[in-house]
Amino acid sequence: MRGKFITIEGCDGSGKSTQLKMLEACLIERKIDFVFTREPGGTPLSERIRELILDTSYGDTDKYTELLLYEAARRQHVVKIAKWLDEGKLVVCDRFTDSTLAYQGYGRGVDVESIELCNKIALGGQKIDLTIFLDLSPEESFARKGGADFGDRLETEDASFYRRVYEGYKHIAEDTERVVTVDARGSCEQIHDDIMAALVERGIL
Ligand code: TMP
Repeated sequence: MRGKFITIEGCDGSGKSTQLKMLEACLIERKIDFVFTREPGGTPLSERIRELILDTSYGDTDKYTELLLYEAARRQHVVKIAKWLDEGKLVVCDRFTDSTLAYQGYGRGVDVESIELCNKIALGGQKIDLTIFLDLSPEESFARKGGADFGDRLETEDASFYRRVYEGYKHIAEDTERVVTVDARGSCEQIHDDIMAALVERGIL
């Protein structure tokens, strides 16, 4: 049987990494055949592209250059994802196409048509079965991190950029049936339980 493909989305600092670790432990315990992967990244070439994108030394990168780099990395990754799905694995991806719409679209102002066209090429018909959106505003996430500076280029953007990205995610979640919004303000355990409940409810587990 073909595997399922799920993605986890949210603003920087929304707690994705913690939740992915908790989910991983659960999947191991349940003896589920899964792969954890991420974007940008997931293949050797895509990880190299990730390094280029997140390298601050290139200064200001044109927003379309950035879009094409993310999508080039994605295309290579999707080929691998399709292979994992053919093998019947549950594929869990940290960020995917909704990140592009939220960050490049809502955040940087790239037009939706360009994003949709690039995603169409990168995906080649590959569908996502379920997306978990960890809903935490940038104000709450920065407060949680005690205002710490994360270092890469995207994380030195101004506050209004993060606000636009967050609003973008909220719109995407409202408009897209595949997306389940999980309130990420609670305890790690509560958020984890909500994610597991969504996976069961949507027939993933
Ligand atoms: P990460 O810190 O969650 O690994 O993600 C790296 C950064 O890449 C994060 O700030 C969001 C950004 N990003 C985009 O801007 N567009 C995309 O399509 C993807 C996948 C990530």
